[in-house]
Amino acid sequence: MHITELPTPQVLIDRGRLTANIARMQAAATQGGMALRPHTKTHKSPRIARWQLDAGASGIACAKIGEAEVFADAGFTDIRLPYPINPSNAQRLLALLERVHLSIVVDHAAVAAEWSEVMTAAGKRLDALVKVDVGYHRCGIDPGVAFAVPFLTQVAALPGLRFRGLLSHAGQSYDVTSADQLTAVAKGEAELLRTLATEARRAGVAVDEISVGSTATATLSAAEPDITELRPGNYVYYDRSQVAIGSASLDDCALSVMATVVSKPASDRIVLDCGSKTLTSDTGRGMVRPKGYGAVFPSLDAVKPDDSLIINRLSEEHGVVEVQAGVTPVEPGDRVRVLPNHSCVVSNLVDQVCLVEGDEVVEQIPIEARGKIT
Ligand SMILES: Cc1ncc(COP(=O)(O)O)c(C=O)c1O
Repeated sequence: MHITELPTPQVLIDRGRLTANIARMQAAATQGGMALRPHTKTHKSPRIARWQLDAGASGIACAKIGEAEVFADAGFTDIRLPYPINPSNAQRLLALLERVHLSIVVDHAAVAAEWSEVMTAAGKRLDALVKVDVGYHRCGIDPGVAFAVPFLTQVAALPGLRFRGLLSHAGQSYDVTSADQLTAVAKGEAELLRTLATEARRAGVAVDEISVGSTATATLSAAEPDITELRPGNYVYYDRSQVAIGSASLDDCALSVMATVVSKPASDRIVLDCGSKTLTSDTGRGMVRPKGYGAVFPSLDAVKPDDSLIINRLSEEHGVVEVQAGVTPVEPGDRVRVLPNHSCVVSNLVDQVCLVEGDEVVEQIPIEARGKIT
């Protein structure tokens, strides 16, 4: 089927780029002597995760139990949940533990103790890593040795948990303003985790794993000694923010939204049929803050975006584009492509994506783990 036979808006995935992105990240991890455990948050698709495993990935990461259930149903057997799952979800997690090898993260003493009690009562032990705050200041323990080492010692002693090691997500990498800063984030994260691991071992705690993961820092982390695992997610598709950070080129971006121009109320304004229900309202991140809600490629065969077309306003179904040049040849009925600011959130909004090769649809892939918010 030709892509023009598809209704719009439609999420297209370029098969060649997807395959190349999977292979390139796997090669970086393998060369660094570490495991690659892709975070499935970006594609939310067992079909695509299978290609990552086939390329050499050691397992997968999911955020929510609902996502892990989808992947377990699809036959995945090694799932890490690097999200602070609360023990209120214990029954579902225990059910999942019957059929897959699971690991969780903890970053709070009372929560860790409660997980331990749940597991002990069920006659089980659950693999757990301690999430460390490496500068993003979202989740994770204070990395200072004086606090962290006693915390690790305490978690390692909990009978219902099997302490595996340290885990971090350097999400601050999305807000750097230079390549040097990005390198400093990756190096700082690795150094901090290495120090903590050394001190914990000195205190008698076995630290078998050090897991890091963000797409922007992944290839830099791959060169760091002692890291055992990379957990990037976004690299399968990349997006406009990754291009702005410098971790990908436009030609690496595998996901785009095909949209139709539905209105041209003035020569300097066109309206696309992709609004916040498709692109989400995520703004661009990265060193060169990109303007608007996505880059507009003015035709289906355009190889570059037209930087004078700024999607500066979104309603649910409308993407309002300001034509900064004052005029554009694009007319209602024309199709364009939009490179979203953030590809992961786009996947969460669609039931399927179309895998394409050139202008031909080669497969329609259901996004089975979309919308799994619990
Ligand atoms: C805990 C955790 N690990 C890994 C990732 C993957 O990072 P990225 O989206 O930069 O690939 C994320 C992304 O949000 C995350 O929250």
